[in-house]
Amino acid sequence: MAFLDYHKHLERNATLLLAGSLLVVTIGGIVEIAPLFYLENTIEEVEGVRPYSPLELAGRDIYIREGCYTCHSQMIRPMRDEVERYGHYSLAAESMYDHPHQWGSKRTGPDLARVGGRYSDAWQVQHLSDPQSVVPESIMPPYAYLKDTLLDGAHIGELMETHRFVGVPYTDDQIAQARADFMVQADPMGDGDIDAMIERYPGAAASNFDSLPGVSEMDALVAYLQVLGTMVDFSTFTPDASR
Ligand code: HEC
Repeated sequence: MAFLDYHKHLERNATLLLAGSLLVVTIGGIVEIAPLFYLENTIEEVEGVRPYSPLELAGRDIYIREGCYTCHSQMIRPMRDEVERYGHYSLAAESMYDHPHQWGSKRTGPDLARVGGRYSDAWQVQHLSDPQSVVPESIMPPYAYLKDTLLDGAHIGELMETHRFVGVPYTDDQIAQARADFMVQADPMGDGDIDAMIERYPGAAASNFDSLPGVSEMDALVAYLQVLGTMVDFSTFTPDASR
């Protein structure tokens, strides 16, 4: 009974109650947060996840610049309706090299976390140029102008160095070859060494996506879209919890 009397005292004194609540929340917070400082990594690494190729990285910047994330999420939740529609739920490791991540919080259009390989390059270019020409009821705006701006990749190595600075493990070799890899991915029939590029970035889609001369913003964006969600081989993947 004595304990409850103490509590009565606490409940009737607003300042004391506030101080007491603060103390309890602080202890709870420390218990939850402190262990994270001692864990080296909270993300389970998954085979196949690699840093973006130079062209994909450039495409990702265009995706961000154009605000695609205002209508599209990139995170499939582990719920049946989502998994049946979009594929395997997203793994933390799949966005470990995304700075910043593109999970999004709005789905005016469908989730894009696994859109890579779902459509042909030609479909992607056509859809981005004029969405209603392939999906008549679409409310997505057209991005045909992306074909008009050519990229020379002059600063792509520096962009990769910036990503390395925040933790993406680009090697010196990858940075040294950045511009060559950037060019050859959008022109695999040209003079560049496409095999070496694919070795550095397994599974990268290499093509002259928009079928026009030069590397355009459209090429970069489609290279990025085509790799989304394709890095992990889910026929062999088993999550830790169910092993
Ligand atoms: C105003 C909202 C809006 C914006 C902004 C937008 N989209 Fe969409 N997007 C949609 C809608 C709605 C659909 C579904 C209809 C369709 O396929 O066109 C869609 C469909 C798509 C699809 C096909 C997805 C699938 O699984 O069928 C892709 C790929 C796509 N958008 C990429 C992009 C990219 C890249 C950008 C930025 C350059 C972008 N979208 C900007 C609304 C938007």
